[in-house]
Amino acid sequence: MKTIIANWKMYLGVRESVALSRGVLRGLRGMKTIPEVILAPSYPALGEVSKILSRSRVRLSAQNMSHQDHGAYTGDVSSRMLKELGVNAVILGHSERRAKGMVDSDVHLKLVRAVAEGIDPIVCVGEPSATHEAGETEGYVHEQINTIFEGVETNKRSTIYVAYEPLWAIGSGKTPSIHDVETVHAMIREQLSELGIDKVSVLYGGSVDPENAYEFLNNSEVDGVLIGGAGVRIQKLLDIITVASEIKA
Ligand code: 13P
Repeated sequence: MKTIIANWKMYLGVRESVALSRGVLRGLRGMKTIPEVILAPSYPALGEVSKILSRSRVRLSAQNMSHQDHGAYTGDVSSRMLKELGVNAVILGHSERRAKGMVDSDVHLKLVRAVAEGIDPIVCVGEPSATHEAGETEGYVHEQINTIFEGVETNKRSTIYVAYEPLWAIGSGKTPSIHDVETVHAMIREQLSELGIDKVSVLYGGSVDPENAYEFLNNSEVDGVLIGGAGVRIQKLLDIITVASEIKA
């Protein structure tokens, strides 16, 4: 089964998130095989979206999480708070957070916390444009995976999602070739397996839309996609979910 994750970033408020979540559930009703769908609204919308998704198989993700348990951390949100709202997955290390100072060692700490709390982590990695142009993508992503995952003990309850999102592909309309995606995904999978992490789902993210979704999703190295811009447009999101539902994983 393929996985579709919609990262709603800071695009939608509570009412819009509620409306879109309802639209997704309505759209799924007509589908024969339903892929795994995970919605990641903004923090303020999590509670209301959670109520809507509660009797469906659609899962709820946050877009970030503190690695701290609790305490004087103004503006942060803990795993316990997320769990209270019915959140069961969390995006960690998105490049838009990294641009504000988050580094791989922070992502590592968040990952450890998420696994310990039974929240499935969606760990984002990916190279900047200059690294891509220099042909050094694999080395860069390898290093990221090492720093983030080394010493992390996973358990049978957790699925680890890793989203390969090249920075230059996010929001740009540009995408890497399917061959490049395949190569990076295979490397990530092998590296995690060497670290003893086998229950992993490797996703592609960056300018995924209904037109290019098939090429990514139809590749056996691609377990799913992480969508930004196209995921806040109901028809585009449902079109991508439909593509996923028609592919035999
Ligand atoms: P776009 O699909 O808008 O390129 O965003 C990708 C992304 O950052 C998903 O997390």
